[in-house]
Amino acid sequence: MERRRWYKDMVFYQVWPRSFKDGNGDGMGDLWGVLEKLDHIQSLGCDGIWFSPIYPSPGADCGYDISDYLDIAPEFGGMDAFRALLDAAHSRNMKIVMDLVVNHTSDEHEWFRKSRRRIEPYTDYYIWRPAGPGGKLPNNWDSNFEGKAWTFDPVRGEYYLHLFAVKQPDLNMDNPLVREEVKKILRFWLDLGVDGFREDVITYISKKDGLPNDHIFPIYKGMRHYNHGPRVHQYLAEFKQEVLDHYDCFTVAEAPLVWPRQALRYIREEGGQIDMMIQFQCQCADCLFTDYLPTKFSLRKLKRAYSSWQNRLRGKAWNALYLENHDHPRIVSRYGSEEYWAESAKTLAAAYLFQQGTPFIYQGQEIGMINWRPESPELYEDVQTRYNYTHSHTKEPAQKRLERLWRSSRDSARTPMQWDGTENAGFTTGKPWFSVNDSFRRINVAAQEADPDSILNFYRKAVALRKRLSCVRHGVYREHFRLSGRLYAYSMTGQKERILVLCSFSSRPMACPFPRGFDRKTARLLLGNYTAGAPEILRPWECRVYGWDLS
Ligand code: NOJ
Repeated sequence: MERRRWYKDMVFYQVWPRSFKDGNGDGMGDLWGVLEKLDHIQSLGCDGIWFSPIYPSPGADCGYDISDYLDIAPEFGGMDAFRALLDAAHSRNMKIVMDLVVNHTSDEHEWFRKSRRRIEPYTDYYIWRPAGPGGKLPNNWDSNFEGKAWTFDPVRGEYYLHLFAVKQPDLNMDNPLVREEVKKILRFWLDLGVDGFREDVITYISKKDGLPNDHIFPIYKGMRHYNHGPRVHQYLAEFKQEVLDHYDCFTVAEAPLVWPRQALRYIREEGGQIDMMIQFQCQCADCLFTDYLPTKFSLRKLKRAYSSWQNRLRGKAWNALYLENHDHPRIVSRYGSEEYWAESAKTLAAAYLFQQGTPFIYQGQEIGMINWRPESPELYEDVQTRYNYTHSHTKEPAQKRLERLWRSSRDSARTPMQWDGTENAGFTTGKPWFSVNDSFRRINVAAQEADPDSILNFYRKAVALRKRLSCVRHGVYREHFRLSGRLYAYSMTGQKERILVLCSFSSRPMACPFPRGFDRKTARLLLGNYTAGAPEILRPWECRVYGWDLS
């Protein structure tokens, strides 16, 4: 079947189900809750939902440790709720995208239970290695979450590889039987009617033969031997040709550490194996590769990332655009300003929503949710956060280490969605599974519904404007005033129209420059985050979208 490209016209909403909305009062978000809130999602102009994993899972990594790929977890409502949701979404012309997590499973998955006992055909479903002399680890790789990448299993008497938590053993994708299982999973959900997949750390699925040691100095030792590994394109092509090409669906791949040139090998429209890529460069403007290695925010770094993806993919591949997801702290608290909270949340929205690509909006982003700052490290749930707290900077005073978590933990993106100012932020009538961010009385959906100038209503306007402008989908991106460390300015020029987006990333006013060739007099202000004012000045965190008709 010829691949259709409908995803290019869409805007997705990401639901992290545990914290979105509880429909049955047990304190945990579920699909009944999502059903209740479909109007909210659709009101943003979103026409698709990506669900972080909703399969049965022991929850060691909040669902990214799956114990059954062919079911929906009972706490989320099971298959009945899922079918009801899928029908409801489709009847609104909304698409549903599932998270496909096949680099690893849960250690409670039946495959792993059988593999550790060497029950065929599961013996080689995972990456097992004997201990070296004196119990030595098979190599020096680090896991991304919890120390070394190897754990000894006393049942089998061997080490297994886990690039993430101890309870997330890596599958052995070199085993054709494992690849058949992946195809079975894909077919199962596609036959049920889902419209696509977000593929979790899919660039990790092929490890270098021999699993060689890495040098001793890099962070995430071993990564160069498993990220973009030797057979990754071959396996992805197999999934595409044997399954995905036979359905009207799309895929978006999560890819840590990838540059546009490399990305093109995956997502090139002619000959690629997937449709879009979630890259991390746009998340590294205030850190070195991971939020746990913070640096000062650099707008120039952010602009370089944005522009290089826009320029290098143009005409060849399609971008996935995002500001937030469940793996990073809240963007207003990172790249924006809590002091200029509403202004900066809107500016950040304008900075990415008019670029070429398919935008994703993460739950809570549309109301400018901010970082969570609990009083005790004990309150954190996330496996990666807990490990970092207990293992890094251990000589620092406890308060300083706690403050590091406030700045860096992905749990800030996982507190319950703030629906209103009532108890538990309207998320549940029960006891919430996770702490609610104290900011909920000030920052919530109900309050913003009532305010025409709210962040929520800005998102609605911005998405609607984006959808009206063909230059965003078909035009040419250009960055202006590249050297400025306070202003992000870009234009999109199509056949019929042109827009100029000006975003101040500064708490001080600045002159509002127009690039050469852009006529200030004939510019129409299409969107902004301040009411009328001096056109020649950009106020703190002001953004403006100007337009010109070219026809
Ligand atoms: C990336 C996911 O987005 C993250 O939440 C998860 O912990 C890891 N992959 C492991 O599956």
